[in-house]
Amino acid sequence: MEKRRLLITSGLPYANGPIHLGHMVETIQTDIFARAMRMMGHEALYMCGDDTHGTPIEISATKRGIAPEDLIKETYASHTADFKGFDIAFTNYYTTHSAENKALAYDIFEKMQAAGLVRVEKIKQLYSESLNRFLPDRYVKGKCPKCGAEDQYGDVCEVCKDRYDAIDLVEPKCVLDGSTPVIRESQHLFISLSELADFLRDFAKSDALSSEVENFVMTWIEEGLKDWNISRDKPYFGFEIPGYPDKYFYVWMDAPIGYMASTMAWCKANNKSFDDYWKNDKTEIWHFIGKDIIYFHTLFWPAMLKVAGYALPKRVHAHGFLTVNGTKMSKSRGTFILASKYLKTLPAAYLRFYFAAKLSTGVDDIDLNIEDFYFRVRSGLIDNLANLHNRSFSFAETKLDGKLSAARFDDDCRKLIGDTKARLAEICKAYENVDLAAAIKAICEIGNAANLFYQNQAPWSYLKGENADIEKARAIVTACAEVVRLIAIAIKPVVPDFAEKIFAQLNLPDQNLADIDNCLGDGNVISHVEKTYIRPERETFDALTVPDETEAAAAAAAAKVLPGEEKVEEHKVAEIVREPLKPLIDFEDFEKLDIRVGKVLACERVKKSNKLLCSQIEIGHPDGPVQIVSGISKYYEPESMVGRTVLVVTNLKPREMFGLKSCGMVLAASDDAGLELPGTILRAPGAKVK
Ligand code: MSP
Ligand code: ZN
Repeated sequence: MEKRRLLITSGLPYANGPIHLGHMVETIQTDIFARAMRMMGHEALYMCGDDTHGTPIEISATKRGIAPEDLIKETYASHTADFKGFDIAFTNYYTTHSAENKALAYDIFEKMQAAGLVRVEKIKQLYSESLNRFLPDRYVKGKCPKCGAEDQYGDVCEVCKDRYDAIDLVEPKCVLDGSTPVIRESQHLFISLSELADFLRDFAKSDALSSEVENFVMTWIEEGLKDWNISRDKPYFGFEIPGYPDKYFYVWMDAPIGYMASTMAWCKANNKSFDDYWKNDKTEIWHFIGKDIIYFHTLFWPAMLKVAGYALPKRVHAHGFLTVNGTKMSKSRGTFILASKYLKTLPAAYLRFYFAAKLSTGVDDIDLNIEDFYFRVRSGLIDNLANLHNRSFSFAETKLDGKLSAARFDDDCRKLIGDTKARLAEICKAYENVDLAAAIKAICEIGNAANLFYQNQAPWSYLKGENADIEKARAIVTACAEVVRLIAIAIKPVVPDFAEKIFAQLNLPDQNLADIDNCLGDGNVISHVEKTYIRPERETFDALTVPDETEAAAAAAAAKVLPGEEKVEEHKVAEIVREPLKPLIDFEDFEKLDIRVGKVLACERVKKSNKLLCSQIEIGHPDGPVQIVSGISKYYEPESMVGRTVLVVTNLKPREMFGLKSCGMVLAASDDAGLELPGTILRAPGAKVK
């Protein structure tokens, strides 16, 4: 296998707020990919850092009476502590406020100037005379010039979706102090992106983008590329533009250059050549980003790289957004979960495992459903993989003096190990394709098969009595321990702590793909066996969404002072689709529905269906419980349904699905992001819903 060199990045978190679980989707995905590449023997650097520039940081620092430099130092400490807690193995975590970043930004800017791509134009903007500053679009609100809706930001109307120039807002007000801004002219620097349209079209169609992302990008290109304003007036926290006093680079200009600056600082400290990474076709540059920043990474960024003569990304991998319990993260619901809070509540490995199990290749949003989270961790990580380790290793240590041997392997043992190894190739392929869900699925299947093997082979039955054959028991346990070793190699990128414990208890050095043929056997000893994970309590998971006053307040304060102005709204992909209301109905029509409170007594998956659950529901009727089939199995595990109080339409005509009679309908809220059953209902089964 040829050794590849990868330079991997994830989006640089803004230094204007704490790390939350949305960020963690990305860093966990990226870290798993980087670790997988290393496990497979490749050189994989993971470069990241804080994105420190822009208006929000400058304003926030001013409000607190400190220098922006001090503010970003504070956030740097908190960000790096959170990432460490989640076992993110960055090669370097740097900052965009660095000498390297400034030098690189100047270099790239000068090359763009030399290529004739920078033009200067005077434009009109809203200016606050009380604050002595120009106001970014997200710092003004007013009436929509198109539909008249009140309270709209300066870039886009949430009601009619119209995009406009902030100076066209009717009765504009500054969100910072409520004053009325005036219109002022100022010179700005623009990059003529449209001149690079051909190049960008080729890039969009290259292997760098999935077809899904390519579609977004091609639409933007075909709609016509607007020139990009890369300058901001003072006061601004950022780099002053050479030759243009009091003008600063827009934060999105130097932010991606931060990937390079992080590499450069690391190269200096480790005596490596920067050009080997950023000017070398042999280096594969992989960017992991959220779907909200595709525009920046597929249009502006490749254009900058191309013009300045750097290597282009081999791949820009976009993922979806995190929702919690089916809805957007929200501070009031307690679902805006900070990384630090998570780390005080549960082991990092659980979230790494869960996100891996949910992250496939597309940009679909991913949901952290607390019940599902608990269930998957328990059934996949604890009851399957950790259990296989614990039962086989404990048995070896307590009954066999820890000594392993392959001398008595029979065909069954050899088949178990052979099957496992065959699947490792498939798992590596899944990692390469960033299909983490497929890797986890395969690993869990290996675990299931090995648990079954252990159960059926029953090594304990060979310890004494008529069947006593201790070497047979040793062979069975050795085969299982070998599968545990192979599982540990395969899952190491996802839960490195799990693998580390296993290698230590096997008295082996760190194991990688290159070690898979070194099968355990005579001479290998298991010792100091300890459980990898303790079976978690359901209540601990629930604690994740109980709002913690101080943290929620801090996050809310950050969000208030710092609206998301730096993400240009027009570059967002997600759009809310508003469904029209259905026609009016009479009260009599409504009265026809018989909706009651029901309690789920039993629930199971419907065989051969990946959507349906079949529940027995007590509805307080003398005829006894009813059977209802519902399309909710993607969101709710059957175990989590039992005991739950639900709302049921009881008088729908019965229907048959997959051979099962369904007498009614369980009500749930559903949209593109997921599906949610109603929360706490205290009324007893049979209570009417009116
Ligand atoms: N600073 C910019 C990125 C500059 S990259 C040169 C930024 N920062 S961010 O803090 O808002 O987001 C950092 C990364 O985390 C982005 O890729 C973003 O898509 C991702 N996520 C932020 N919130 C997220 C969710 N709720 N869910 C999933 N990913 C999210 O954008
Ligand atoms: Zn409008």
